[in-house]
Amino acid sequence: MRYPTNDLENFWLPFTANKEFKRDPRLVVEGKGLYYTSHEGHEIIDAVSGLFCSPAGQSRTEIADAVHEQMLELSYIPSFQHGHPAAFELARQVSRLTPGTLDYVFFANSGSEAVETALKIALLYHRARGEGQRMRLVGRERGYHGVNFAGFSVGGMVRNREMYGLGVPGVVHLRHTWLEENRFSRGQPENGAELANDLQRFCDLHGGETIAACIVEPVAGSIGCYVPPKGYLERLREICDEHGILLIFDEVITGFGRMGTAFAGQRFGVEPDIMTMAKALTNGAIPMGAVAASDKVYKAITEASPEKGIEFYHGYTYTAHPAACAAGIAAISLYERENLFDRAAEMEAFFLDQVFALQDISVVTDIRGIGMLAAVDMAAQDGTPGLRGTQAVKDLYAAGVFTKVTGDSILIAPPFVSERKDIERMIGTIRDVISKY
Ligand SMILES: Cc1ncc(COP(=O)(O)O)c(C=O)c1O
Repeated sequence: MRYPTNDLENFWLPFTANKEFKRDPRLVVEGKGLYYTSHEGHEIIDAVSGLFCSPAGQSRTEIADAVHEQMLELSYIPSFQHGHPAAFELARQVSRLTPGTLDYVFFANSGSEAVETALKIALLYHRARGEGQRMRLVGRERGYHGVNFAGFSVGGMVRNREMYGLGVPGVVHLRHTWLEENRFSRGQPENGAELANDLQRFCDLHGGETIAACIVEPVAGSIGCYVPPKGYLERLREICDEHGILLIFDEVITGFGRMGTAFAGQRFGVEPDIMTMAKALTNGAIPMGAVAASDKVYKAITEASPEKGIEFYHGYTYTAHPAACAAGIAAISLYERENLFDRAAEMEAFFLDQVFALQDISVVTDIRGIGMLAAVDMAAQDGTPGLRGTQAVKDLYAAGVFTKVTGDSILIAPPFVSERKDIERMIGTIRDVISKY
């Protein structure tokens, strides 16, 4: 073991019960391909790609080498009024993968920052076109758009919102899309397209011309894989078009092959006006987020500004950081060389067969899945939501499988380099653990 574990006091862990964790820590000291090694020397298979970040597996040499080389050549230059070649190259590579005209790429450092950036772009777009009265934002119950102020405001996870005041004003939420009658639906559920009409109701109530943007995750990830009902995203698109509202897809989890296509928009045949991404953009190796804006959005903003005027008063010290750009270019080239998006598409049926076979376990109350993303809901223990889930985090880790648990829902999102035997091992271990509940 390279690092002593006798002083855990100073690191304040996010989304973690710090006091309890520090009494009984789970430290990971190595990651190679599909496996992590714990500080106690145990092997743990990665069933959630880190945190939906690493479709190509851990510690890939190609990415490490590219970052190393970049760091020796140019370790930092701001993107304000300057640039460096890797930033333009990564934007070009990303725009090759994005659907339709979503070709203009703004870099941030995380999914949360990408969301803030996307929402600001939406407001700016309307102002640039003389419609500055469009200030309302539409989010969705149970949505997750990161932890910053606008992101949690349009998000709909109560624990992430309730302690932090009022958030940004003028936000309304669509109803979430989980329906009792859709339990155990594989892929897109049959029922629920009409839930998209909530957006029409907001237009009727507030005036469509006051709404700037509607942001949704095409498949809600963090809450536990809510797959859009058939026709739902199409209906959102239709209402947005009717009322001049921008549609934003938050593809922080679904981007880069998770649905078997580069982005979820391509899988569902619905094109947003703005799209966010992060996580797998660099295979999780270096923090980075990005926003892709359509031709229409980019040009409206840039053309409304005088020739020498700054068009967008926004950006980060580390926008397009050279290390992140090098990691992004190397990751995309790795995905293409190893055909990882196609491998995800080919593995989907086997993966979902395995996951849906868990429905015979008595504690399992629902399973949802599409692409290489699935969630298994467990009944609350003693009527207290989250209790069983908290226990499951520890039990699954101790049994040698790494997952994410939200509430009482286990999320599974294997790296695309997984073989059938690896998926059997992941799901088999989950079965062993939750069968005992
Ligand atoms: C859809 C979505 N948006 C935004 C975020 C926030 O990303 P980050 O944690 O990188 O800030 C996440 C994180 O899981 C996410 O799933």
